[in-house]
Amino acid sequence: MEENPVDAHYDMDDFTKVIVSENEISRKLDELGEQIRADYEGRDVLLVGVLKGAVMVMADLARRMPPSFQMDWMAVSSYGSGTKSSGVVRILKDLDTDLTGRDVLIVEDVIDSGITLHWLLGNLRSRGAASVEVMSLLRKPDAVQVELDVKYVGFDIPSDFVVGYGLDFAEKYRTLPFVAILKPEVYQGD
Ligand code: IMP
Ligand code: MG
Repeated sequence: MEENPVDAHYDMDDFTKVIVSENEISRKLDELGEQIRADYEGRDVLLVGVLKGAVMVMADLARRMPPSFQMDWMAVSSYGSGTKSSGVVRILKDLDTDLTGRDVLIVEDVIDSGITLHWLLGNLRSRGAASVEVMSLLRKPDAVQVELDVKYVGFDIPSDFVVGYGLDFAEKYRTLPFVAILKPEVYQGD
């Protein structure tokens, strides 16, 4: 766990634990970036970021890619009560890019149940892409229950609710440079 910088704009008391530090994210993206550049050598890849959670990982991964790589964005929402995906996914913002013949790499923040990603893979594959692969910074244990082919994974983490580095609770905490477990009293109120 890293020390809290004196000029930090966040209160470490909100978190149980930092599970992935800023340095660990950076080193992992160096590693995955190298692998991705090698795997796609000579091909013009379309990185598809899933808003809003994947904004940070997309920005940091993209800066490790050659200038021929393109970026596009999708926003989706899972219907259903509570905090779990229902399997019914709605497109809030679609891609601007035609996927015909394209090599697509979906960039995700976290795979929890895997339901959203499962739907997204089916949707993008039906658009005539040459290939569709997935890079997710984080993956939780429940994700293994859905048959998903995730080529690049940063960190396998516990099922706790985490925030930071793009991940939010009620739209807050996305700006943190690290990933931390949020204290239950923060989301349960006091
Ligand atoms: P899934 O369909 O259950 O895999 O849901 C994945 C989506 O739920 C992610 O892309 C996140 O937006 C959100 N999510 C899942 N776990 C967390 C978490 O621990 N913190 C914040 N958002 C999460
Ligand atoms: Mg996401």
